[in-house]
Amino acid sequence: MITNSKKKRNATKTVYVAMSADLIHPGHLNIIREAQKYGRVVIGLLTDSAIASYKRLPYMSMEQRRQIVENIKGVSRVVLQETLDYVPNLLRLRPDFVVHGDDWRTGVQHEIRDRVIRTLKEWGGQLIEPQYTMGISSTQLNSSLKEIGTTPGTRLKMLRRLLAAKDLVRVLEAYNGLAGLIVEKTRVTVGSETREFDAIWLSSLTDSTAKGRPDNGSVDFTSRILTLNNILEITTKPIIFDGDSGGLTEHFVFMVKTLERMGISAVIIEDKVGLKENSLVEGLGSQQQDSISEFSKKIHSGKKAQFTDDFMVIARIESLILGAGLDDALRRAEAYIAAGADAIMIHSKKKNADDIMNFSREYSSFNPRVPLVAVPSTYSQTNEKELAASGVRIVIYANQLLRSAYPSMVRTAESILRNQRAFECEKNCTPIKEILQLIPGGQ
Ligand code: SPV
Ligand code: MG
Repeated sequence: MITNSKKKRNATKTVYVAMSADLIHPGHLNIIREAQKYGRVVIGLLTDSAIASYKRLPYMSMEQRRQIVENIKGVSRVVLQETLDYVPNLLRLRPDFVVHGDDWRTGVQHEIRDRVIRTLKEWGGQLIEPQYTMGISSTQLNSSLKEIGTTPGTRLKMLRRLLAAKDLVRVLEAYNGLAGLIVEKTRVTVGSETREFDAIWLSSLTDSTAKGRPDNGSVDFTSRILTLNNILEITTKPIIFDGDSGGLTEHFVFMVKTLERMGISAVIIEDKVGLKENSLVEGLGSQQQDSISEFSKKIHSGKKAQFTDDFMVIARIESLILGAGLDDALRRAEAYIAAGADAIMIHSKKKNADDIMNFSREYSSFNPRVPLVAVPSTYSQTNEKELAASGVRIVIYANQLLRSAYPSMVRTAESILRNQRAFECEKNCTPIKEILQLIPGGQ
C-alpha cells in the first residue's frame, strides 16, 4: 500500500508510460492508475509514424489521440514518442520509472524491453510491470472495429495520413469483394514487424479482365462503380482508383466528385488520348499521348471540382511507355505539379527498373515535389527497399491477385475434365467450412 508520505515523495518522481492510445480501454486506465502510485505520469504518445513502423495506422489522428490522453485522470503530461524505441525519450526525460504491462516480456517487444531496462540503469531508474489486463486488447478491438467498418470521410483521409506516417505506402489490387477482403486482411509477421497492405488499387486491367472485357474502356464508369461498391462494402482500407485517362475534362470533374463522395482517396489519370490501350502491351502500341497543356487543364479542373482538401488527383506519365523519353517525362512532371497534381505516377514496362531509377534521381531535386508512385509489374525483381531508397512513396502491385487466381482456376477446370470428378482438385481448394466463414456475416 502507498502511504500519504510516500505519495508526497512520489510527486517529485517521474513515471513514463508509452502508448498508442488509439482505442482506449480499461487496460490503459489500469496501467495509468498503477503508474500514478510511483509519481507524476508522463505519457509518451506514439506518433503515427512510430505506430505505422510496426502495425497498421491508428484509426484516430495523433491530435485526436493526444486530446483523449491529456484528459485521462492521472496523466500529468503528454509528450510524443517518435519511434517504437523508448530510448530517445528516456534519455531526454530521465524518468525514475517506466511502467508497461508484463505482456512484453515475451514476443516481438522483448528487445525494446531490454533496451528500456539497460537505459534506465544508467541513472538507477526502474521498470515496473503490472499484470497485463486479460480479456481486452487494442488488437481485439481493432478487429471488432473492422467488422463495424468505416465512413467515407475517415477512409478518404487515410491515404494522406499514410503518406505522412510512412516512407512507403504499399498498395495491392482488388477486382472484386473477395480480392478486397484479401487485401484488407492478409498480414504476415517478419521478425518484430507485422506487414500488411496499406491500401487497395482498383485496377482497370483486372476489373476489366475479371468481367471478361479488354482493358480499353469498354467497362464503363458505372460498371467500375459497381466493383468499387462491392469492395467498399467489406473493407476499411483506403482506395486508389484507376481512372484511365479520366475521359473528357468535362466528364472527369464528375468522376472526381463521385469518387470523393464514395470515400475514395485518390484517382490516377494517365496522359493519353483516344481509344484506351493497356500500357503493358508489347511494342509501342497505337496509343497517343495527350499534350502537356490539355492534360494540365484536366488535372486543374479535377482539383477544382473536389470538395475536400483530402482527395488526391494523381497524374500518371506515360512518356517512358510510349517512347517519348526521360526529358519529356520530367517536363511533364513539372507541368502536372504546377497544374495541381497531388502525386506523380511514373510508369515503365521495362524488365528492369533503370528507367524508373533514372527518373526518380532527377525528380528528387524537383522543388516543388509531390509523392512519387511506381507500379513494378514488369520490373518485379526490384523490391520495396530499393524503390523507397530511390524516392518512391507509393508502390502499387497492380494485377498479381488476378494473375495468380487465373492459373489456379484453369488447373482446377483441367483436373475435373481429366479425372471426371472433383476429388483430385480438392487439395487445392479452400474447404467448404472455411469458405462459408470467409465472408463477414457468414456462418
Ligand atoms: C492497371 O492496373 O489497370 C494499370 C496499370 O493501369 S497497367 O496495367 O500497368 O497499365
Ligand atoms: Mg489501368
